[in-house]
Amino acid sequence: MESQQKSSTNPLSLHVSAIAPAGADTILLRLADRDGAMLPPAAPGAHVTLLLPGGIDRQYSLIEAGDALREYVIAVRREPNSRGGSAAVHDGLRPGSAIGVLPPRNDFPLVTDARHSVLIGGGIGITPLLSMASWLGTHGRAFDLHAAFASRPALLLADRLDRVPQARLHFDDAAGGPFPLAATIAAAPRDAHLYCCGPAAMIQDFIAMARADGRDDAAIHFEYFAPPPAAAPAGSFTVALARSGIELAVPPGKSILEVVRAAGIAAGSSCEQGTCGACEVRVIEGIPDHFDAVLSPKDKREGKSMMICCSGALSDRLVLDL
Ligand code: FES
Repeated sequence: MESQQKSSTNPLSLHVSAIAPAGADTILLRLADRDGAMLPPAAPGAHVTLLLPGGIDRQYSLIEAGDALREYVIAVRREPNSRGGSAAVHDGLRPGSAIGVLPPRNDFPLVTDARHSVLIGGGIGITPLLSMASWLGTHGRAFDLHAAFASRPALLLADRLDRVPQARLHFDDAAGGPFPLAATIAAAPRDAHLYCCGPAAMIQDFIAMARADGRDDAAIHFEYFAPPPAAAPAGSFTVALARSGIELAVPPGKSILEVVRAAGIAAGSSCEQGTCGACEVRVIEGIPDHFDAVLSPKDKREGKSMMICCSGALSDRLVLDL
């Protein structure tokens, strides 16, 4: 069973109730209703979206999940190449600041009845895994938590990690190399569910190594905290929607999903960054150019389906089952 969660999209009017340092270039923020009202519940792995000044929306994983929350707790690292989000949080928010927040959504659900879970976080990617570790610990489930950082000075959320007896820290510099993903995956029980959140390269290695170790895709869970390095398609092409009976041009820089929606055709989606699988569509004809992190290499080669939020076309025309 997965602790799936969908949310309303009506923003909550909250305020920053506290800010505290949380390690290298990172702050911990508590967001609460000014009158102390209960907040919509959050399942382990869920995130909220902050509606920041200047029309910037940013997703941040919740460090604490639960059905009876009076605060959302998030950690925000100042990104050296910030596109505006982390700088707006670090420089613009102070205790008492008003902030619009979209309620929790969960694109990284925890399988709550797994016999064993292995949680691997890199850097700020540790945040959703802390909420999972808390849930697993509270419910007496077997799990391991691995937190990988470049060095001890790069350690984040040390007090939170201290509270998890199962947590193991890895420092690249002290260990003489990156976190041993392959060995950790190989050592996990065969029926374990594996989770990873961290830099894109780490997640891509995690997926490849878990598959190479013979793990079932259903047991491999991951969440990017930024879109995968591959972006939306660059060139223009045509999509024919077989069920709707229309043909649409997809211009450079637009996703198929955007074009289809603009034409009034309903299409499912969730993450809109190629990581959840919600926008998968069957390909009837043509060659997709896959940019998602959902389909296996074999599925991508076969090209029978594609994620229309991020993938494009190698052929001039695609015929889709839409
Ligand atoms: S909406 Fe998540 S993969 Fe496309």
